[in-house]
Amino acid sequence: MISTITRQVTVLLLAILTIQSVAQKSGSETAENTKISSLLAKMTLEEKIGQLAQFHLWSRNNDVEQLSAVIRRGGVGSFLNAGDRANKEKLQRVAVEESRLGIPLIFGRDVIHGYRTVFPIPLGQAASWNPDLVQKAAAVSAKEATQMGIHWTFAPMLDIARDPRWGRIAESPGEDPFLASAMAAAMTQGFQGDGLADPHTIAACAKHYVGYGAAEGGRDYNTTLIPEHELRSIYLPPFKAAVDAGAATIMSAFNDLNGIPTSGNPFTLRQILRSEWGFDGFVVSDWNSMTEMIPHGFCADEREVAIKALTAGVDMEMVSESYQHHLKGLIESGMLAEKLLDEAVANILRVKFRLGLFENPYPIAYDATVILHPDHLKIARELTAQSLVLLKHDAAVLPIQKTAKTIAIIGPLADSPLDQMGTWTPDGKAEDAVTPLQAFQKAAADYEILYAKGLETPRSSERALFAEAVAAAQKADLAILFVGEDHLISGEARSRAFLNLPGAQEALVAEIAATGTPVVMVILAGRPLTFAPLIDKAAAILYAWHPGTMGGPAIVDVLSGKTSPSGRLPVSFPRTVGQVPVYYNHRNTGRPAPKEMLGIPLGTPEDPKGYVSNYLDADFTPQYPFGYGLSYSSIEYQDLRLSSGKLHPGEALSVSVQVQNNGQYPADEVVQLYIRDRTASVTRPVKELKGFQRISLPAGESRKVTFRFGEQDLAFWNIDMQFTAEAGLFEVMVGSSSADEDLLKEAFELVNDPAD
Ligand code: BGC
Repeated sequence: MISTITRQVTVLLLAILTIQSVAQKSGSETAENTKISSLLAKMTLEEKIGQLAQFHLWSRNNDVEQLSAVIRRGGVGSFLNAGDRANKEKLQRVAVEESRLGIPLIFGRDVIHGYRTVFPIPLGQAASWNPDLVQKAAAVSAKEATQMGIHWTFAPMLDIARDPRWGRIAESPGEDPFLASAMAAAMTQGFQGDGLADPHTIAACAKHYVGYGAAEGGRDYNTTLIPEHELRSIYLPPFKAAVDAGAATIMSAFNDLNGIPTSGNPFTLRQILRSEWGFDGFVVSDWNSMTEMIPHGFCADEREVAIKALTAGVDMEMVSESYQHHLKGLIESGMLAEKLLDEAVANILRVKFRLGLFENPYPIAYDATVILHPDHLKIARELTAQSLVLLKHDAAVLPIQKTAKTIAIIGPLADSPLDQMGTWTPDGKAEDAVTPLQAFQKAAADYEILYAKGLETPRSSERALFAEAVAAAQKADLAILFVGEDHLISGEARSRAFLNLPGAQEALVAEIAATGTPVVMVILAGRPLTFAPLIDKAAAILYAWHPGTMGGPAIVDVLSGKTSPSGRLPVSFPRTVGQVPVYYNHRNTGRPAPKEMLGIPLGTPEDPKGYVSNYLDADFTPQYPFGYGLSYSSIEYQDLRLSSGKLHPGEALSVSVQVQNNGQYPADEVVQLYIRDRTASVTRPVKELKGFQRISLPAGESRKVTFRFGEQDLAFWNIDMQFTAEAGLFEVMVGSSSADEDLLKEAFELVNDPAD
């Protein structure tokens, strides 16, 4: 009797607790969970394991019969690169109509910086410092991709990168966590729109989680050693921003992080992602990154891979098949708890439900007008124009003056549509891209155009075409040189130890400059390049990244002055490879170098004064700092004002500055706010970006720009690994780049005691 009563009380208590926890959840979440658990309850072990498998079309040798057989028995949950619409529909019909439970497949694809309308490489998009426009571009990509039956993109790529030798810096949002976080949120929202159930949106995948961009020596796939403090301060924030923006999925990475590969890392995947951030989507491994834990020396065999990856929290396995081969045995033998598998399946089903795949599994009705729609091309042109960074400017040359009646367009990248689209454009088509040469020819009413390639490809060393290029420059009033990298030498596995212009391009620039015709150098590349010896040879330099489909018109818009150049560097440009890594938010050291301290004259006595952190032969500053970029006007910053010298908890400070356009051209300016925490329980960077505003300033006009910030903006990971602000002195800096000479400074104090 007593035991019955106890049992009844326990049941009642449990019921009350359950009701309370259910009541805390939103109605839709509860409905979603009910759908997931009732489906899970019907699934066999094999069907559950099937949901964790992501095949490539190459799996089972692309044999549709064999693939259909696997789908029919519920043996696969997803495909990447599943072919055209018709093929996807065919595979989906088998899943929905012929498998026992009819669970739809989810089709993924690398829609990295555009589908058919290709936008600038992500590093270029970050150079726009315009999250709103980047969001619109991602929405365009989603619209075009859904036409092809794609549900899910493997983007945004959010790996902070401080090393331009690493080829994947092209896909990265750059070196700064604040700017990268803004891009992360923008791209996630752009892809996912107001909700995944909208058939014109796709699920985002924040990748590669995490630290992948810190590969040793810039060699792709290499070891990363990142102390937890640095991981939390620099590498994790963009992922957190994507999760906060609702990113449906996360991709684990290839790298070994502090000795534990990221595709088997419970600290990053379970503790940080799930427990600390509350992520409830699913984690997919990178391509074979799970079984690569064997060569990493972390797992002895596929069986151990399956144990470590599932325990760590990888839900779906891309391409490799360790889950397929081993989970059943591991669970049946009690080596792994079925609960772990159920969690992974639930995470995957949750995203499938959110995408509305159970209701609408097949591709939406095809509308050919969506692909390369004029509105999409317009956004691409605008975003590309805003991504272009003017590094050097001679007012007599740019914008192109009326006196420049004949223009020589020279260089291997002036008319190379495939190259201008850059890395990771599996669906971009060269014939859609408008090259700079084509765009200039279209604007030919304004100029006479002479064209000479100069070099067959950017990598050619053969100088046979130089003479023709020199002759064109001699006849012209202005020579515009399109040089840089072809699309194949940036991107995955495309690390470089030299960062100069490949082939004989430097010699080409030198020969054209020797004609005396003013030279504008336009560099198209997937990474920051080093070109110090060429800077004096060019009157103006425009950095164009790999600009995408509308590269040509956007470049002409900016060179002609129709649009103000307004891109700003999302990453520091080294003077020479030996300086790498060079980044603005470094720590001060105990022996910071004074400015302009170069070399050591012969006969210098041993003198401790010169013992500072510097190179003897290259200075410690970059060639071009983070945040840098010019316009055609001269912009002056003055009158920096802080609302108070003290910031109390719970209050905000405002800082304002007057920005004046002193030139004769309208300008778009990116006003940047940096903060330095002078002293803390751990050493702090010399400055950190905390805000930015893009403003348009007509010629001769002045505008007051105001930022507000509070204690939470000063928080950092302190000595106890807590995210908090510490009282003390701070500097606030506002200006046009991260370089000291471009910033106005004020100081304030964060006080703990409200009475202070
Ligand atoms: C890359 C990922 C990509 C995946 C699928 C891998 O090699 O690292 O970024 O999403 O392939 O194509």
